[in-house]
Amino acid sequence: MRKFAIKSIVISVVLTVTVALAHEGATGVVKTRMDGFKQSQQDFKALIKAAQNDDYEMAASLSQSLEQWGLSMTDYFPAGSNMPPSEAADTIWSDPDGFAAAVENYVNAAGAINAAALAEDKSAIMAAIKLTSDSCSSCHKSYRVK
Ligand code: HEC
Repeated sequence: MRKFAIKSIVISVVLTVTVALAHEGATGVVKTRMDGFKQSQQDFKALIKAAQNDDYEMAASLSQSLEQWGLSMTDYFPAGSNMPPSEAADTIWSDPDGFAAAVENYVNAAGAINAAALAEDKSAIMAAIKLTSDSCSSCHKSYRVK
């Protein structure tokens, strides 16, 4: 009886893992960049909270992570890597200059948050957060399909 209970627990754990993987569906570089974007979304939310709470140290650290992510972002879009379930648009590869410019806008905006956080200038932080958020949406509009 006891043995049986343990066995069914193990099976249900295995099933949960399989379902989670099937839901993700992504592998390789597509999975890596999706995870990177998800992480950046969490960091950005935490950063906004930190700025609202005048936690400049946290805001500086999170904006640096966002900037770093931007500096490596193009490495995660090798040619031919827009297989499903990727939401990357073909324009990333047909218009590489435009994509690079969108990445640069984002990097500059995240860098501006960092500079403002180091200067403990709350209104400049808030303005740069708005710029960063605009750079996320603007890139998604041209280079992401939903
Ligand atoms: C230069 C372009 C660009 C910038 C800037 C950018 N993104 Fe994205 N984002 C993309 C692309 C392209 C995808 C789709 C990637 C894929 O599915 O292969 C994406 C996907 C995502 C996803 C979905 C990840 C998943 O699990 O499918 C989230 C969340 C996201 N971005 C949030 C953000 C946030 C928040 C910012 C700004 C802080 C941001 N992005 C800035 C291009 C960008």
